[in-house]
Amino acid sequence: MEMEIDEPASASSASRLAPIEEVKPTPKQIKRIAAHSHVKGLGIDPESQVAIHEAAGFVGQVSARTAASIVVDMIRMKSMAGRAVLLAGPPATGKTAIALAMAHELGDGVPFVPLVASEVFSSEVKKTEVLMRSFRRAIGLRVKEVKDVYEGEVTELTPVEASDNSGLGKTISHLVLSLKTAKGSKQLKLDPSIYDSILKQRVEIGDVIYIEANSGTVKRVGRCDVYASEFDLEADEFVPMPKGDVRKSKDLVQNVSLHDLDLANARPQGRQGDVTNIVSQLMAPKKTEVTDRLRSEINKVVNEYIESGVAELMPGVLFIDEVHMLDVECFTYLYRALESPMAPVVVFATNRGKTTVRGLEDKAPHGIPPEMLDRLMIIPTMKYNEEDIRKILVHRTEAENVQFNEKAFDYLSRVGSEKSLRYALQLIAPARLCAQTCGRETVEFDDVERCTKLFMDRSESLKKAEEIQKKQADRSN
Ligand SMILES: Nc1ncnc2c1ncn2[C@@H]1O[C@H](COP(=O)(O)OP(=O)(O)OP(=O)(O)O)[C@@H](O)[C@H]1O
Ligand SMILES: [Mg+2]
Repeated sequence: MEMEIDEPASASSASRLAPIEEVKPTPKQIKRIAAHSHVKGLGIDPESQVAIHEAAGFVGQVSARTAASIVVDMIRMKSMAGRAVLLAGPPATGKTAIALAMAHELGDGVPFVPLVASEVFSSEVKKTEVLMRSFRRAIGLRVKEVKDVYEGEVTELTPVEASDNSGLGKTISHLVLSLKTAKGSKQLKLDPSIYDSILKQRVEIGDVIYIEANSGTVKRVGRCDVYASEFDLEADEFVPMPKGDVRKSKDLVQNVSLHDLDLANARPQGRQGDVTNIVSQLMAPKKTEVTDRLRSEINKVVNEYIESGVAELMPGVLFIDEVHMLDVECFTYLYRALESPMAPVVVFATNRGKTTVRGLEDKAPHGIPPEMLDRLMIIPTMKYNEEDIRKILVHRTEAENVQFNEKAFDYLSRVGSEKSLRYALQLIAPARLCAQTCGRETVEFDDVERCTKLFMDRSESLKKAEEIQKKQADRSN
């Protein structure tokens, strides 16, 4: 087979590869997901399009789940942008769980940004700025580009050390890399900066990778399936050996959010990934802060790309939990932001009935000003019956990997229906610890009972606090 040396990265060449840092889409926040790890989706019957009573980790709340799945369909069909949904119902009726299940259903390409309303009141950043950032995180862009790439299975990977007389240790002068396809192979001489990115992605001989010819961005595609018979403990993803030439035009798709673009374009060093490159080409030199002006410039460029078909808008979901914590200024901002043609779908959740809107004298349903409430599609969640509470507790004890004997579990379910589901859920972990202290793995009745004495539920603690207050008042009289 003929081998040729190609030098896209030679130091003297004008087309020297830039040290590239890829724009990473903002990772989905997972901090509040642990409590909902048993929930894998909305559990919808594909035929009837109605929620199955027990499916995907969900139990009951059938109407709310069915309604949420209609919203998911509307988001997919892009007929939901700029609208807002409110999940309203008593505590621990699965509102947050439903919102996360919607995110599961939407999949990775659609951004999902969870925010707890009180996070808006940070001391450092203006509240409207926090909301604006979250909005832009929730607006995704799928950018399609045809790129000139080198792609193939790695058959050689040799860093070449520079002859260094300074005595300060060895440096890499370049990297020799060979790529093989079903049709041929090529040997490339690459800039050392690309070596870092190869190390980071743990590229090994036998992996399929591609390198963008202009930017030098490296992407590991997977392990070449020639090696699929190996014992592979890490369950790597196997991909076929690429056909065609090593150097070719390839359709690349990347998902980024407007917020990713804001940050990448604001970075003072101007080190950017491929997507920002295309966007920044049309823009003024780099600024150091994300300003309104920068944002509107980005919007302009993004709009042009959408119109020319290079990019597709993927409105995602901004989930604002405990929405009654927002104040009237935030609502005014949101009201306006929802009107923008590039708005994501906003999903609110609250467990409040009629309460004061922060910043106003008046009370309003769910603490949401009437103008805003008028625009919302409201999905109510209902309290669970005893049977459903029991089933939810089964899911949670399994997810937390805690074993209860029958008597202990009966008692826990009773606590769930008599006190509250949340209280029962919170007893699972301490009950296991109590059992372990006694040298047991299985939780017994006594462990649960002991925990109910050590930890109070909400209404009990309220009663105690009131008693203390009354005693103090009596004493001072
Ligand atoms: N229908 C359900 N099926 C399975 N698990 C559920 C269901 N509803 C709630 N859960 C679980 O119960 C716990 C409480 O639910 P969640 O936090 O979603 O309630 P919430 O309505 O958001 O409450 P709050 O108003 O207090 O925020 C979570 O661990 C959640 O995953
Ligand atoms: Mg919640």
